[in-house]
Parts: sequence; structure tokens; C-alpha cells
Amino acid sequence: MTHQRQLKLGAIIHGVGGNMGTWRHPEILSDASVNFGFYKQQAQKAEEGKFDLVFIADGLYINEKSLPHFLNRFEPLTILSALASVTSHIGLVGTLSTSYSEPFTVARQFASLDHISSGRAGWNVVTSPLEGSALNYGKEHPTHDKRYRIAEEFLEVTKGLWDSWEDDAFIRNKETGQFFEEKKLHRLHHKGEF
Ligand SMILES: Cc1cc2nc3c(=O)[nH]c(=O)nc-3n(C[C@H](O)[C@H](O)[C@H](O)COP(=O)(O)O)c2cc1C
Repeated sequence: MTHQRQLKLGAIIHGVGGNMGTWRHPEILSDASVNFGFYKQQAQKAEEGKFDLVFIADGLYINEKSLPHFLNRFEPLTILSALASVTSHIGLVGTLSTSYSEPFTVARQFASLDHISSGRAGWNVVTSPLEGSALNYGKEHPTHDKRYRIAEEFLEVTKGLWDSWEDDAFIRNKETGQFFEEKKLHRLHHKGEF
């Protein structure tokens, strides 16, 4: 039996780039990090080049010493939703932190991106290592161990919420007036540490 191995390729779209100086290069758009035209062109080029996905990195804390790209950049779900409408089959993967968000909101955001893009949404789950992130949320920064306990439960809840409707629950029958099948709705009733 032959087993065909396949390499999956992802392209990061990272504005003016991942170091301090690239924004000054003559061929770099100095506002690339907040330039939709640039993101659109990069995503379309990646799709044309048969990449499997584009990836948007993110973080929740900056200061004056941060990389130029980090000082001004798109929020991942927002830019990916826009890219969904100018691409047709490339995967759209974004970073979102489990330490500074809530599963109910995140489940809705990625489910929406998935509908908008016909099933192309992907989530880079991170726990936010930078302590300063806490200041932006009026919270305390959880320890590394706690961040990963939160993340584990967060994923369980998010996946549970996605499965709270079975895939074919919505029948939308205009004749009978039945919008969904009640037995295909499952309440999560989650209980856990957090
Ligand atoms: C391919 C790749 C992409 C990553 N992207 C992000 C990112 O966008 N945002 C982020 O906060 N961390 C990102 N990370 C870092 C991880 O979330 C994680 O913090 C790191 O692997 C260190 O692990 P630790 O959390 O146990 O210290 C990325 C790591 C890898 C390998």
C-alpha cells in the first residue's frame, strides 16, 4: 500500500515584518500593518501559490519598545473576515488568547468566520505570556500553570458550544413553520474549575 505524504503550507501575513527595521526598506509599504490592500494582495497571492492557509499572529500588550508591526496591527478575526470575502479556498487562521477572552464569545466569533468563509476558519490557541496584557483587561495575569489549565477547559467549553447544535439541526421548513429540530439542540451544562 502506498501512502502519499503531503506537506501543508502556511503563510504568515505580518504587516511591515517581524523585526525593527524592515519598514524602512524601499520596497516595503510603511503602513502595511494596517493596510487592507496589502493583506488582500498577500492572501490572494498565497492562495494562488497553493498555500493551505494564511496565519495572523497576535499579542495583547505593547510598549514603546515593541516591534513597529506590533504598534499598529489588525485584530485577527476582523481582518480574517475581510480576507474571507476576497479569497475562495485558502484556510484563515487567527490567534486568540484563552487568558483574556470568554469561550461563549470566542465560539461565536470563530463559528461566524467559519460560516462567512464556508468552513475555512482556524484558531491558533495561545495563553498570552506577557504579563502586561493583564493591565489592558483590568485583571491579574494568571501563572503559566493556571493559564494552561484555563486553556484546557476553555477549549472543552468552546468545542462543546460548537456541538450544541448538530450540523443538520436547522431545517427551516417554510411549509410547516419548523425552524429547527429540538432534539438536535444540546445544552452544554458545563461545570469545571473556571
Ligand atoms: C508557529 C507559532 C506561532 C505562534 N504564534 C503566537 C501568537 O500569534 N501569539 C502569541 O502570543 N504566541 C504565539 N506563539 C507562542 C506560543 O503561544 C507559546 O507561548 C510558546 O510556544 C511558548 O510556550 P509557553 O506558553 O509554554 O511559554 C506561537 C508559537 C508558535 C510555535
